[in-house]
Amino acid sequence: MTENTLDPSLAVVILAAGQGTRMRSALPKVLHRIGGRPLVGHVLDTARDLAPAHVVVVVRHERDQVAEAVLGVSPEVVVVDQDEVAGTGRAVEIALSALPDFDGDVLVLSGDVPLLDADTLAAVVGAHRAAASAATLLSAVVDEPTGYGRVLRDADGGVARIVEQKDATDDEAAVREINAGVYVFAARELRTRLPLLRTDNAQGEKYLTDVIGLLRADDRAVAASVVADVSVTLGVNDRAQLAEAGRLLNARTVRRWQLAGVTIQDPATTWIDVTATLAPDVTVLPNTHILRATTVETGAIVGPDTTLEDCEVGEGAVVRRTDATLAVIGAGATVGPFAYLRPGTQLAARGKIGTFVETKNSTIGEGSKVPHLSYIGDTTIGRGVNLGAGAITANYDDIAKHRTEIGDEVHSGSHNVFVAPVRIGDGAKTGAGAVIRKDVPPGALALSVTPQRNVEGWVENHRPGTEAAAAAARARSAQKADDGAQEQGD
Ligand code: UD1
Ligand code: CA
Repeated sequence: MTENTLDPSLAVVILAAGQGTRMRSALPKVLHRIGGRPLVGHVLDTARDLAPAHVVVVVRHERDQVAEAVLGVSPEVVVVDQDEVAGTGRAVEIALSALPDFDGDVLVLSGDVPLLDADTLAAVVGAHRAAASAATLLSAVVDEPTGYGRVLRDADGGVARIVEQKDATDDEAAVREINAGVYVFAARELRTRLPLLRTDNAQGEKYLTDVIGLLRADDRAVAASVVADVSVTLGVNDRAQLAEAGRLLNARTVRRWQLAGVTIQDPATTWIDVTATLAPDVTVLPNTHILRATTVETGAIVGPDTTLEDCEVGEGAVVRRTDATLAVIGAGATVGPFAYLRPGTQLAARGKIGTFVETKNSTIGEGSKVPHLSYIGDTTIGRGVNLGAGAITANYDDIAKHRTEIGDEVHSGSHNVFVAPVRIGDGAKTGAGAVIRKDVPPGALALSVTPQRNVEGWVENHRPGTEAAAAAARARSAQKADDGAQEQGD
């Protein structure tokens, strides 16, 4: 967003100073995450879409943690500290002190109401400006209003005031129109009312909501925009609401990608962070988590039972039953089932990381395969390589990590250990069971297992009377009969 597109008469205040007692958490409420981002991050992101000239975030509880998260998302916001006086009204009063000369519209948002979209907010601001109201609040008519402030209307249907749950009479509590905690105020009307707020209520706090009643007492115009989709007003106060908000956000994200051309077979078990990107004609199968900055290119099939965190999945790749973090999966590559890709894994185009394979900080070249039962760490593998089942890179000697370098077109036997640091030259081969401690020159065959010696009759001599001895005896007499018959035939 460039400077000159900012709306000079719009300021956004985001309330994020509360402790969030009902979360019962060491982590401040607004830093709990849904869709891969803290609650307050979603609010900041939506606020930014409105291009306000000012954004002020009010902090107090765990202020350093919250401020760091806020400035991490939006370095341009102003963070202000609420004092010991409690309440949303006090929070806004402190926020306005950071905007002493501002005379436009103040949009107040709560850091714990994460699902509001920019269109809904723009509509509230638009309605406020069109009617030239002193205040416009966002309300919703819900089936279960418990916990929210109720919007009380007067005889002619206008907004009279807001009463908090804890201060409401039974009749007031029966009202199903709730205050969403989103308001637009004319700055000068708000500024003059905030110092008048009192704390003689059930929570002993300065309620921002009381400004509405004060404005009406002065005959100022107050309007309410009743939102059609009540789910956008969901406030997160406890862990159950956190999960509900996460589910609603995810449903929205899944639908957005479906409409953009992604096949998502089971939206209920597919979790996509708001920061992930999917190309058209990607297929996502059930029980799949696509997290953080993951990108998936067209034609790729991801899942079932897969978690990708900060991964790049190339065009047409197939990733099944896999857990991967900070990994790059090339075009046409296949991963899984049952693969574990740790940070720094780079699988080139048409490569394969197969079943029960763990990789870390390793590059696997074009068309190269690590198909079965392997650990590949701190390794560079060239092109056209095939590692036999059970390849292990022994990269750690108790003191330091060392690299294994495997050239192009190398084929290793089953059950090899590569004791790093070690290099395998281009085109080399290794025998089954080899423990490779020394470099292998290009084109060499490396063998490290002693030749096999068979001690004839050992079982019948040392384990007489066992089932094994009986089986051996049967096999040997059958072999003798066979040999005899063959001799006669010759
Ligand atoms: C508030 C409203 C209620 C509304 C609901 C909507 C008030 C008095 N009540 O209630 O009418 O229905 O939101 O979700 O405003 N905060 C501060 N400083 C404080 C206290 C709170 O910054 O001293 C912040 C919190 O961090 C939170 C937001 O303000 O982000 C709302 O506070 P919360 O305590 O959750 O208010 P509710 O009881 O939900
Ligand atoms: Ca709340």
